[in-house]
Amino acid sequence: MEIFETVKTRRSIRKFKPDPVPEALIREILETARWSPSWGNTQAWEIAVITGEALERLRTANRQSFLDKVIPKPDTPMPAVWPELQKQRYQGIGKKVLTALSIAREDREGRLRYSGDMSSFFGAPCLLLFCVDRSLAREYAMLDIGLIVQTVCLLAHARGLGSCILAASVSYPALIRKIIPIPDTKAIIIGAAMGYPDTEAPVNQFTRDRANPDEFALWFK
Ligand SMILES: Cc1cc2nc3c(=O)[nH]c(=O)nc-3n(C[C@H](O)[C@H](O)[C@H](O)COP(=O)(O)O)c2cc1C
Repeated sequence: MEIFETVKTRRSIRKFKPDPVPEALIREILETARWSPSWGNTQAWEIAVITGEALERLRTANRQSFLDKVIPKPDTPMPAVWPELQKQRYQGIGKKVLTALSIAREDREGRLRYSGDMSSFFGAPCLLLFCVDRSLAREYAMLDIGLIVQTVCLLAHARGLGSCILAASVSYPALIRKIIPIPDTKAIIIGAAMGYPDTEAPVNQFTRDRANPDEFALWFK
């Protein structure tokens, strides 16, 4: 797939087929993604690839914590407030997803079911958790993580896989550490669900919005 096409057609996948992702494919993606840039070539990312039984245990436990209304305590705090423009966009994607799923705004049960699905990583057969050692200066490490996450997602897409970067997968790091032996010395930054996309699902089909480059790029000549 041509790079411009890959970037434009990658989208967050919120319904996956149960088919497992071949380990060789995940290895090929990581083998290529390691060429992502990083601060001073520090390559400080550490990635837990979770599939099979371990993933099912994590999926069940994460969903249950959400349903039990356990207060999230992610290693990266979630912003409590957004400036108006970002708030509108954030609400906009929420509306699009719920509309695609035919869940009305006042349908509390439907919304809860959807959030439960999100906490279950949308049924993906693979979850990647991106971590950094806590001894690293977090700001630049976060940039490096962002770069490799995007590279992984694009490569996955180029190989016919879908992905969804999921803050919802790292809400309960203490729970993750009970199931996956990630030491507390590593901050669990973000997760990405991965698998074959259910291309028929409306939630994977709605049109997405982006600002025009003239709204965010200033030119100086
Ligand atoms: C850091 C980060 C965290 C995200 N967390 C979630 C999440 O918890 N749940 C979700 O459905 N999507 C999540 N997303 C996906 C975004 O909603 C999505 O990238 C955005 O709406 C743009 O849509 P697109 O990826 O389909 O182009 C996350 C994306 C990023 C970059």
